[in-house]
Order: sequence, then structure tokens, then C-alpha cells
Amino acid sequence: MKQRIALLLLAMTALGGPIFSQQNHTLVVKAAQPTATIQPTMWGVFFEDINLGADGGIYAEMVKNRSFEFFKPLMGWTVNRKKFVEGEMLVINRGVENTRNPRFLRVTMNNAAKGDLGLTNEGFRGMGIKKGVRYDLSLMYRQPQAQTKLHIELIDTAKQVIGDTVLSLTEAGDNWHKAAVSFHAKETVLKGKLNIWFEGNGTIDLDMISLFPGDTWKNRRGGMRADMIQLLADMKPGFIRFPGGCIVEGFDLTNRYQWKNTVGPIEERQLMINRWNIEFPHRATPDYFQTFGLGFFEYFQLADDIGAEPLPILNCGMACQFNSAEVVPMQAIDPYIQDALDLIEFANGDVSTKWGKVRAEMGHPAPFNLKMMGIGNENWGPQYIERLKAFQAAIKAKYPNIKLICSSGTDPNGERFDYLNGELRKMNADFIDEHYYRKPEWFFQNARRYDSYPRTGSKVFGGEYASHVDKTAGGNRNTWLAAISEAAFMTSLERNADVVQMASYAPLFAHIDGWQWAPDLIWVNNLQAYGTPDYYVQKLFSLNKGSKVVPISLNNDVVAGQDSLYASACIDAATNELIIKVVNASDKPQNNTLQLEGVKKLASKGKLTVMQAELTALNSFDSPTNVVPVESTITIKGKKITLNNSPYSFSVLRVKLE
Ligand code: AHR
Repeated sequence: MKQRIALLLLAMTALGGPIFSQQNHTLVVKAAQPTATIQPTMWGVFFEDINLGADGGIYAEMVKNRSFEFFKPLMGWTVNRKKFVEGEMLVINRGVENTRNPRFLRVTMNNAAKGDLGLTNEGFRGMGIKKGVRYDLSLMYRQPQAQTKLHIELIDTAKQVIGDTVLSLTEAGDNWHKAAVSFHAKETVLKGKLNIWFEGNGTIDLDMISLFPGDTWKNRRGGMRADMIQLLADMKPGFIRFPGGCIVEGFDLTNRYQWKNTVGPIEERQLMINRWNIEFPHRATPDYFQTFGLGFFEYFQLADDIGAEPLPILNCGMACQFNSAEVVPMQAIDPYIQDALDLIEFANGDVSTKWGKVRAEMGHPAPFNLKMMGIGNENWGPQYIERLKAFQAAIKAKYPNIKLICSSGTDPNGERFDYLNGELRKMNADFIDEHYYRKPEWFFQNARRYDSYPRTGSKVFGGEYASHVDKTAGGNRNTWLAAISEAAFMTSLERNADVVQMASYAPLFAHIDGWQWAPDLIWVNNLQAYGTPDYYVQKLFSLNKGSKVVPISLNNDVVAGQDSLYASACIDAATNELIIKVVNASDKPQNNTLQLEGVKKLASKGKLTVMQAELTALNSFDSPTNVVPVESTITIKGKKITLNNSPYSFSVLRVKLE
């Protein structure tokens, strides 16, 4: 690893100047000459149901395959029995009468007592169970006679019971009923399971067997995992993009994300295979499905909760071009466009409208105030432009104020990118979504990318990016080297905030036992969630966003890699503070004197926040705060500030203008 970093640093020397020599610099800040407005949406988050991001992730459901709709209907379940009786557990398909949730389980009990016949659910790579927390079990059932008792148990890995209760099912007849019971866990375990033992005689039909912790985000029943959402809320993101990513495209058109299938009663939301289930053979995830318990209503509600602008991305009539590459013929594209128009009505429409009423019935009569949406994810080629034009015409005709985010494909350069960039600018696209999954060198080298972009016309959305270090796997890719290279690049996004008006790291979440793609911003297991160094870089930019960019220069040039130094400056009009961000990506300390122009007086103290580590440093479940920002107060005399930027450091200074 050390050798590789040395090579990288040598490469950087060749590209950006001598990084091993210590330098003293004077950086001139013109605090009274704003060059661009920083949009409130500047730094946001990108959510996709990848790496067990939704089911098994932020969606706090603990039962895997609760409605028996996986390809293998009993996947995730084990039948426990003293004696095998043919046909005592039958998966019944009532597809004709219920196309959305066709299967249920019929259990036949033969004077069963507790311990004779039961089911175990293994959860999503186990169930994280916390001592003292309430657990809410619910299900749907139907039985000819009111006679079944269910003995509910949470068990640890040694099968010891760590929480239990009894649920008596008292309704009988031909109709389905809902039942629920709550109980508390007595121990904490990372990989627990759920047992259900049957007591009774005769048959009982079961569906939607569900278990949620009581300590969800905002304590909502059936809600989201609070620790994961808290990490997002702490970032104060300007927007939240959902539901992806490639998941929007689907590997074919039937597998595309269709928002209308994700709203309304959860038992009517039709489950679908998650495309990441089969995407990477080396990271096969056969139990990865989308239950849509977390659907578009919940995404909008989440955006509302954390004060982020909602940014839904819809399928544009094209499936993933790395997979089936199916396209819908132009003469059949209207339903796709109608989905986009209806989504705007769902989000913003009055409760008297068809889709506004659906939103109101789900518990949110007030509009969600949708302002923008994406059409297509990583789609490319003339076939994309043709379809996008149809969307653009229809949406702008009805909702001229909705901004559209348009794809520039998978790469930030090359023929495909050049073609799309040209076409989108001719179409006067509101936003062009650029993606860069690249090596750290790319991020360092591209710190001038946007300096030469057109200042008028289409704006840029840096919709997906992450620095990918080589030859490491999983969370080990989230090194400080990756994060500091992103920080360096982000100073250039901020400097060009008139062009780049939104940006988000991707992907957001990964489960340690169920990921397909790395690096990721936040890693989780069933009990813990930790932010990577990249997370803290994102958070620092977001919390220190400012409202106007002001110039910061070194020898009359932007600070974009000279002596491995990167910097940006802005003013926060709300607090009347100057915010300076400096990345020292070299292995030597650098003394940087900030010479402030256009400032009458500065406060005598400033807040300095610094991240600094070895390039290989990581956070982990055992050491979640190994690389985190450290705050201190610095004393300021006059209008010169000296920053001692240590090797491999990212510093943010906030100082009040008086
Ligand atoms: O972020 C992971 C994937 O990367 C996204 O689904 C896709 O848009 C990109 O290729």
C-alpha cells in the first residue's frame, strides 16, 4: 500500500508540481467580490436501494420475505417441526384474485402445542436486536375458527430466547384480519432471529408477517432505521435523490422502478426482484428484492423530515444499456411520460386531484413542493435524446417551473459524453447529470474542470461520484486518500457554484454482509452505522456551504493543485462569516497566510475544523471515529490569518466579519 501511495504521489508531482517541498504561501481572499451564488441545493445525498440500502437497510423491517413472494417462497424462513406431515405448510397462490400480493402461507395444525410446529425467520443477514427496545410484530391472517395462538420469540445465535410474547388470533371466517403485538427484548444481539410457534388445531392462513423495532426514525411504526437516517439528517443535505441509480432503469423494462407500484397500502405494493440481486456474479445476493415498503411517499416524507429538496429520478423509457438495453417504442412512450406528470401531481397537487388525494390519504395533505425531477439515469445515445425531448415537451408544457435533470451517460468524458453534452445544451436542458467514479488522481487532476465550462445555459449536477482507490475491497476502499481527493475536487465545485449547482457522493449506504458496490459513504451492520472519512468530508462541505463564492488565489491563479494545495472561499450571508476551505494533499506541512481584502475587521477568534490522517486511514465498526473532523478555536489578529495546514489535511475555517 505504502509503495502504491508513493507512486501516486510521484504521479501527482509530475502533474501538479513538486509536492515534497514544504512551502509558505500567501493566499489572497477578496471577500467583497462575490463571483457566484451558492444554491441551497449545492451539497446533497444520493439514495439507491443497492448494498441492502432499503430492504435490510433504512427500511427497518426485520422479516425477510414477509409475504412469501420471493422466487423461492420460503426463502428466509425455516420450518421447525417435531414430525413431518405432508402438506402442513402450503404456499398458496391466489394470483387471479390478488395479482399484487398473490402468495400466502397455509399452516395446518394437528393439535399443535408450542414447540411442535413453527417458523423461523433469519432476517436480513440476521436481525439486530437491542436490549430494552420494543418490537412490534404484525401480520395478516384468516382462519375458519378463532383458535390459534402464536408464540413469538426473539432468539440469539445460541437459540436462547431474548424476548417473547403470545399473540391470540381471535377473528374467524373468510376474511383477512390484521393482528399485532408488541414486546421488549432482554438482550442485544447482532444476528438474532424470529421464531413463531403455532398452538391450535386446523388451518390458518398467514401473510405480511412483519417485525419492526419501536425505535425507528421519529418513532414511526413501520418506519426507518433511526441511526442511519440520523447520519443523513446530520449532514443537512440540500437535496435527496431517489431511488437511484441503475435501479431506475431496471435490467429490462419490466424491472424498471415504477413509483405508482410503491404507494398505497403496503400489502398491495407488488414486490420485485432487486436488479442488484443478480448484477455482479462475484457479489451475488440471491435474497435481494424490493418490497417497496419504502416507496415514493416515504422518500418524500424523508426529504421533508431532513429539510432536503426531493429529487426523484424516473425511467425514460429505456432499460439499463449494460443489460437488456430495451427501449420502449416512441409510439408507446406516453404512459412513461404520464407517470412523470402524475408524480408531479402526487407531490404537489391539491387534495382534490387524483394523485394529490392519494398523497393525502397516505397522511400528507400538504404538498411536498417538488421542484425538480430526473428523466433517465445513466442513459445515452440518440435514443435517449429522442425520448428525453418527448418528456421535456410534455412536462414543460404543463409544469414550466419543474427543473429537469438529464443524463450525460456513465462517464465524464469520451464520445458518448461529448455527444450528450452537446445535444443537451442545444435543448437547453436545465441540469446535466455528470458521473465520475474515478481514481484519486482524477479528482486531483480535475480541480480545474469547471473553470472553463460555459457560464450560461445548462447547469451541472455532479450526481454520482466517488474516488476509487485500487486493490482494496468493501469499506477498505473508503480511505483518507479517497476522501481527501474528493475534498480537493469539491473545492473546485464550490468555486464554480455558478455552473455546478448540485452534487452528491454515491452510493450512500452499504451493509457489511450484503454489499455489491464499494466504496460507499456509510457502512452499516444490523446494529451500527458509521460514516467513512468521505462522509465527514461531505458533511463538512454541506455544513459550511455559504451563500456566495469569493475569490481565493495563489499568485493570481485559482488554488487548484499548486504544491498539492486546493482551496475555496465563500461568505455565509446569514451569519456574516467568511468560510475558507483548504486541502493540503502533500506529505509536508504548509504554512498558508490568508491575506484578506475587502474586509474592514475580523472577529478576534475563528473556528477551525480539521481532518487529517495517513492516506491509508479508515473508519470501521471497531473504530468508527478514527478519521473525523476536530474543532478548535484560533486567535486572529488584524486581517492576516496563518493556517498551519498539516500533511494530508482538510481544514475549514469560519470567521465572523465585523
Ligand atoms: O452508484 C452505483 C451505480 O453507479 C448507480 O446505480 C449507477 O447510476 C452508477 O453506475
